[in-house]
Amino acid sequence: MKKLYGIGTGPGAADLLTLRAVNVIKDAKVIFAPNNKGKNMALDTVEEYIGDKKVVLIDFPMGSVEAEDYINAANIIHEEIPEGEYGAFLTIGDSMIYSTFIYIMDLLNQRDIEIEVVPGIPSFVAAAAASKVPLTVKGDNFLLIDEFDNSLLDKADSFALLKTLGAKEDTLDELERNDFSYKYVKRVSLENEEILENKEEIIQDRDYISLILGRRKGEK
Ligand SMILES: C[S@@+](CC[C@H](N)C(=O)[O-])C[C@H]1O[C@@H](n2cnc3c(N)ncnc32)[C@H](O)[C@@H]1O
Repeated sequence: MKKLYGIGTGPGAADLLTLRAVNVIKDAKVIFAPNNKGKNMALDTVEEYIGDKKVVLIDFPMGSVEAEDYINAANIIHEEIPEGEYGAFLTIGDSMIYSTFIYIMDLLNQRDIEIEVVPGIPSFVAAAAASKVPLTVKGDNFLLIDEFDNSLLDKADSFALLKTLGAKEDTLDELERNDFSYKYVKRVSLENEEILENKEEIIQDRDYISLILGRRKGEK
């Protein structure tokens, strides 16, 4: 039987990898990651453990990814893993949070391949630590989103918004109107990590590797 591991590689710093992720990567026959112009952030994180292993970067189109792109990825993975061996698919943060691996796992679950997932430190957990913004205190709820929706704020005490490239100015306006404090955390744990609180600076920044943490200031 073949096996595929989904590996969460954490927010980027190599010392935020789990020991389990490192051990699995060291013994994998082939490493998979989405192709981002010949590079991949998760692959950079685990670089020192790759050695001369086979690395397969899988192409996904820019913009909207179609069902057939995932089918194609699942086929490549199935073909590349030798019988009786295992491969590792790398994702940034945790594999169960907004990741390509989830769709591939669902497709491969229907085939003769075992799947196991190794958790990683999610970006927003690392960002909370870096910015010292508590995600929750007793009695709080927490909202995780990758697209801002004002109507969801009504019931939220605290939130993390990933993929900030959308309408940032409108988002920040709404947060202020709803009495939320916020911090923009960029490239957490990496060399050029930045934590911004100034509205104009946040709006100007165009880095995909960024998120916004917010907390309600007063009562709901
Ligand atoms: C496709 S999602 C992947 C989320 C990931 N699976 C996780 O557990 O955090 C990509 C988004 O993750 C966030 N992200 C990932 N790494 C980050 C980092 N080092 N610093 C800030 N945000 C990060 C950004 O919001 C980025 O747009």
